[in-house]
Amino acid sequence: MSEELFKKVVSHCKEYGFVFPSSEIYEGLGAVYDYGQNGVELKNNLRQYWWKSMVQLNENIVGLDAAIFMHPKVWKASGHVDGFSDPMIDNKDSKKRYRADQLLEDKIDRYSKDGKTAKAEELQAALDKAMLDSNLEELKNLIVSHEIACPVSGTRNWTDVRQFNLMFATEMGAMAGTDADKVYLRPETAQGIFVNFLNVQKTGRMKVPFGIAQTGKAFRNEIIARQFIMRMREFEQMEMQFFVRPGTQKEWYAHWKETRMKWHHKLGFGENMYRFHDHVKLAHYADAAVDIEFNFPFGFKELEGIHSRTDFDLRNHAELSGKKLQYFDAEKYENGKDYGNYIPYVIETSIGLDRLFLATLCAAYKEEEVGEGDKKDTRVVLSLPPALAPIKLAIFPLTKKDGLPELAREIMNDLRMDFNCFYEEKDAIGKRYRRQDALGTPFCVTVDHESLENRTVTIRHRDSMIQERVPVEQIRNILADSCSWKTLLS
Ligand code: GAP
Repeated sequence: MSEELFKKVVSHCKEYGFVFPSSEIYEGLGAVYDYGQNGVELKNNLRQYWWKSMVQLNENIVGLDAAIFMHPKVWKASGHVDGFSDPMIDNKDSKKRYRADQLLEDKIDRYSKDGKTAKAEELQAALDKAMLDSNLEELKNLIVSHEIACPVSGTRNWTDVRQFNLMFATEMGAMAGTDADKVYLRPETAQGIFVNFLNVQKTGRMKVPFGIAQTGKAFRNEIIARQFIMRMREFEQMEMQFFVRPGTQKEWYAHWKETRMKWHHKLGFGENMYRFHDHVKLAHYADAAVDIEFNFPFGFKELEGIHSRTDFDLRNHAELSGKKLQYFDAEKYENGKDYGNYIPYVIETSIGLDRLFLATLCAAYKEEEVGEGDKKDTRVVLSLPPALAPIKLAIFPLTKKDGLPELAREIMNDLRMDFNCFYEEKDAIGKRYRRQDALGTPFCVTVDHESLENRTVTIRHRDSMIQERVPVEQIRNILADSCSWKTLLS
């Protein structure tokens, strides 16, 4: 995959109603995007794929939808007020702000592309160490000694490296004006789960090990925004916190690593498109962490994180709130001793829905040579798993008259409660097929004059482009077999 493919995917998103820049008529807003008519369907389907496999197919995992605003103390206890920051550096001439570690990462990429492997490795090791030690001075030294210049001004006139907190803060109602009562837009959905741990455990009579899952918006004031919906300031997470007995976290960490990788593989984009990457610098809450990386057109990058969060969050919330966040384990050890009360340990799986969306589009986007001789042509097709496709069936009357639209609409009305259908009677059939290919629609049905005589239609398959004649009554079964969640999940 290449940078060129990435550009094509970005413009495809715009042209076909998947993703638009936010507030575009005002020149957009940095790293904020809107999902269009087809994007919202694909995004909803991806969320459903996650929710079904995570919540509905796991007896010991339940869902939650916590509010975005939370008590300010939540972010103190979680460590985000003091520790959720990136190292930033400003160029004094261009006044542009950068993430110091990313300037260095870019330099490492440059060295690699120029074949200077030893230099790339040496700088990577130095960067890893500086990040691990939170050594801001050393980050600055590396930027200076590797002669990194500002991409805008071209100068090396840098400020010192400082920490920059990524949380957006605002004020709430009557609290406004008092600094102590700042509220934050949540930078992760996880904390809504931790503060509801006992509510869910008690009302759901959940027994450890069990999980709580939620999807929702998160906000981070990313210093630099780039790569389209890869790094956004407003994005959506799908997170699951799995509560386990202390001492069993290693096994569960291994379990969720494997389970999550299998889930990605089921999408059918190729197992070689994914790899694990162990974290060198652990987040303030983790004792082990790994990324599932996806082979994006710009290289392997983080798609999902799996973290062993210990009892860090529950313990800190218990301390700061003064509430006991413990679990009473009624089972006994093999030697008959009680497990008793404890604060569970947590394994977290956390995936960005927007990143999953981008990975899906990059993997599904294809340009294919079709036809022969004079009719040679290129088609753009999204080879999406049918369950994820925004539209499952497009219905075309061959002409706008002779009763064909009426039969076409009758078919659509019968199917639309169960499948997202699209009706179109304009343009030649070939053109209509191409438009649906570009949206990833797995099936198109054409109603012609023969349909009026014997209630059969032509059904066209997106990937093979094969067309076959089938009775109207069979369409439902074809769709159900191909587009069901069962087909994707089993
Ligand atoms: N609760 C743990 C947590 O938030 P994270 O690694 O910071 O961990 C988890 O984020 C996932 O959220 C990432 O793997 C990524 O898919 C997504 N994500 C994080 N920051 C993002 C951003 N600025 N834009 C889009 N997705 C982002």
